[in-house]
Amino acid sequence: MNFKIPFSGRAHTYTKKEQEVVMEVMQNAIPLTQGCFQNEFQEKFCQYIGSDFAFAVNNATAALELSAQICQFKNGDEFICPAHTFTASAYPFIKKGAKPVWADIDKETRVVNANTIKLCITPKTKAIVVVHLYGFCIDMEPIVKLAKEHNLFLIEDVAQAMGTDINGKKAGTFGDFGVFSFHSHKNITTLGEGGMLIVKDKKYAEIIPQLRHNGHCAWDIERPNYWTPAMGNVDLPSLDDKYLMPNNYCLGEVECALGVVLLDRLDEINAQKRERALKIIDELSKYKLLQFHRVEDNRHNYHLLVAYVKDGKRDIFMKKMSEEKKIQCVVQYYPLNRYDLYQKLGFGGANCPQTDDFFDNMVSFPFNHMLYDYDIDYLLESIKETIEDI
Ligand SMILES: Cc1ncc(COP(=O)(O)O)c(C=O)c1O
Repeated sequence: MNFKIPFSGRAHTYTKKEQEVVMEVMQNAIPLTQGCFQNEFQEKFCQYIGSDFAFAVNNATAALELSAQICQFKNGDEFICPAHTFTASAYPFIKKGAKPVWADIDKETRVVNANTIKLCITPKTKAIVVVHLYGFCIDMEPIVKLAKEHNLFLIEDVAQAMGTDINGKKAGTFGDFGVFSFHSHKNITTLGEGGMLIVKDKKYAEIIPQLRHNGHCAWDIERPNYWTPAMGNVDLPSLDDKYLMPNNYCLGEVECALGVVLLDRLDEINAQKRERALKIIDELSKYKLLQFHRVEDNRHNYHLLVAYVKDGKRDIFMKKMSEEKKIQCVVQYYPLNRYDLYQKLGFGGANCPQTDDFFDNMVSFPFNHMLYDYDIDYLLESIKETIEDI
């Protein structure tokens, strides 16, 4: 179908300056990976987010895998994860040996909270994964408290909520690990793939470079002749006397250099999305068919604009928007326990009624940064007309 407003596979275009940075680094950087731009990106990210340690990686899934690896799960260990999220929030932890326990979402905010997480804690719980889904920063303090009380790792999946904060403290800095994505859909994207892992504890931060790049580590001996002994040092990263297998999860220099300049635009992109979201939400407030989650401050970046469609009218709403208005809305975040992948692994059981209800009645509007003001006006008018028609 030819849509007037498609649900785009990318989030934004690039400015002239961003294009020039890419061209320049593409032509001149030596090396093209793990060079000065990686360092610059990590340092700037630390400053922006308010973290001591940041590691650029090839995507957020790799960052989740690294954090999962550091948890060092033992047989029978469990981790708590929202059922309502993208699949990559969960499977890296299963790959590293833990069993998921699915937490339900809160009806209004559409994310997990301390109460829904608490219900999932058992003596086998070793980690909690929270996901700031749709761009909304979860109320973290009570969750941090829970994690401390039960001695659990706390991982924040900030793939969608980069730049949001609660009273100035940025999403990702509450837990032991914060995971960010620069995937094509995200509010800023380093040419389609990219990620960042922030780490609170120096002990973990010290082994990430080795885990990230094939076990390579700096020489701990003097080498008067640079060529001997030859080849980079390769060792097994170790943590608490246990060895961890390395990976290759590096992000290229072109992407890192682009990330450096994109960070300057993140607040502006987030602010524009929030302003547009609030305009739409407020103008639709008299229509009760759609229920939005309205947040005025920087706690929400409206990475996605989603609504609950009441009275079982979701499908007719989407059909009309698609066929009559040529607007491509989508349905998002299939409850993970309902996926074949998790069912085949034996993780199909969940008690998440809000997750099911939201997924079965939600709509996600096309809402990328490339949309023009006239697209937003058309979207708004089309929603109004569709609701009136229904
Ligand atoms: C909530 C969430 N977590 C994790 C990911 C994985 O990110 P990446 O594609 O950078 O691996 C995504 C999206 O792609 C996501 O939306």
